[in-house]
Amino acid sequence: MSPGTTGAGEAGEGPILVVDFGAQYAQLIARRVREAHVYSEIVPHTATPSELMARRPAGIILSGGPKSVNETPAPVIDPAVYDMGVPILGICYGAQLLTLQLGGRVARTGRGEYGRTPLSVTRPSPLFSDWPTDVEVWMSHGDAITDVPEGFVATATSPDAPVAALHNAERGIYAVQFHPEVVHTERGRDLLERFLYDVCRCPPSWTHTSIIETQVEAVRAQVGSSPVLCALSGGVDSAVAAALVHKAIGDQLTCVYVDTGLMRAQESEQVELTFRRQFHIDLVHVKAADRFFEALAGITDPETKRKVIGELFIRIFEEVARDLVVEQSAPAEATRTGTGPPDREAAGYLVQGTLYPDVIESGSDSAATIKSHHNVGGLPDELAFDLVEPLRLLFKDEVRAVGEELGLPHDIVWRQPFPGPGLAVRIVGEVTPERADILRAADAIVVEEVRRAGLYRDLWQSFAVLPAIRTVGVMGDGRTYAYPIVIRAVTSDDAMTADWARLPYDLLERISARIINEVDGVNRVALDITSKPPGTIEWE
Ligand code: XMP
Repeated sequence: MSPGTTGAGEAGEGPILVVDFGAQYAQLIARRVREAHVYSEIVPHTATPSELMARRPAGIILSGGPKSVNETPAPVIDPAVYDMGVPILGICYGAQLLTLQLGGRVARTGRGEYGRTPLSVTRPSPLFSDWPTDVEVWMSHGDAITDVPEGFVATATSPDAPVAALHNAERGIYAVQFHPEVVHTERGRDLLERFLYDVCRCPPSWTHTSIIETQVEAVRAQVGSSPVLCALSGGVDSAVAAALVHKAIGDQLTCVYVDTGLMRAQESEQVELTFRRQFHIDLVHVKAADRFFEALAGITDPETKRKVIGELFIRIFEEVARDLVVEQSAPAEATRTGTGPPDREAAGYLVQGTLYPDVIESGSDSAATIKSHHNVGGLPDELAFDLVEPLRLLFKDEVRAVGEELGLPHDIVWRQPFPGPGLAVRIVGEVTPERADILRAADAIVVEEVRRAGLYRDLWQSFAVLPAIRTVGVMGDGRTYAYPIVIRAVTSDDAMTADWARLPYDLLERISARIINEVDGVNRVALDITSKPPGTIEWE
């Protein structure tokens, strides 16, 4: 199987295409398919049959969606897909849609079913091999299929879904009202595997090793012998992208790490240790804390802070990049001295840690949108980089697995997300070296204790915040007037919404005691118990 290639091989060798009918349903299905070691891609429901066939899909899954098929307008797919000879599985909305489009009936029968629901298998199905008659599944539907299309048989039922599963084996079309991709569906994984392995005849060959091999080849083919630059942030995505590209092209890669003075404790040391000493990657470590603090002096407005940091970061990266480009390629010298037009090939390539959800969300399969400044957006045209995006087909969990496979340390691979502007968005008011030191020390204690309690991976983020106030305290025999530290810990799936984490009291007590005892300038510790919305995760 060859991800990223179109039209390669016979029908059946290509990806499983998951047709998106809205919300997040398609992403979860696509991830589950990949967990079964079969490569999957998400496509919009507006894709035409010829666009779908151009991918040579091994199978098509019609996802769930937030709408009712009887609503107008409701998203549909061109019914010609049912005659393409490609196996199809409809899930929830997808099941109802194919039923309706093929001549069956979908009606509002009663209450609908939401959550865990008992399912009775009424007839054998290739998808239910070895199932008991009764299983528990996860449902989420208001309408229900009441009549199957001609040539189809109903294979399961539930209290409020007269037809909870149906198929026409001859045409290779299957449908289930319940959600096999949800963990609460017993045998859900098994059902997907039967569809993938038995119906679509996909080999389980999408593994972390195969991802690495494929991407190594793709990077080599893309960049040839040109120099490649990568901005390392200390985060997971740029680290994995760098390690992968290094595996592909070795010394052609130069990594640039800009220490803004707003990094977490030990972050710079870890980047050095991992990339320079362990991987022997050519690393340019720019120690630019002074420049950042100087630029931030006197600034308290959150948006201005971000802008200042973003612009300075780009300027520094640009300086380094220009030097490296000049050093590494003669044609670029011509560009720089004005004797010729910018030479794209000479400027080389820039590695971006773009992930598959970004690609889906930007709705484009073409050259990537450069995201936020920490990923180095807004570089001047004369530094005409082409982008290398070795992670653009991957979900976050796959990126982590690839990172582990490549030998990156756990600490980096499992690191919680950290904002591009760094500690600055957690320092309310002016960002000074002293205040950054206070926050960094407190943050290190929060992280260390959360790790020690075994909760680090369960939390989306856990960190310290430094407000711009002082409060009165008493320590020993004197009064103090110092900063409070706020503990912020949240659970979340995607940072769009988040809940404050119910950290155990004894953990909070340890964090509080250690911060007060060990961090000069702090005399009080508070806990942020705001979810998102209405709060944001960061304080600025
Ligand atoms: P908020 O604070 O908006 O954050 O709830 C949502 C997620 O985004 C991260 N974040 C950023 N990441 N550059 C980044 O790369 C930024 O400027 C930035 N601001 C917030 C934040 O840590 C959380 O995971």
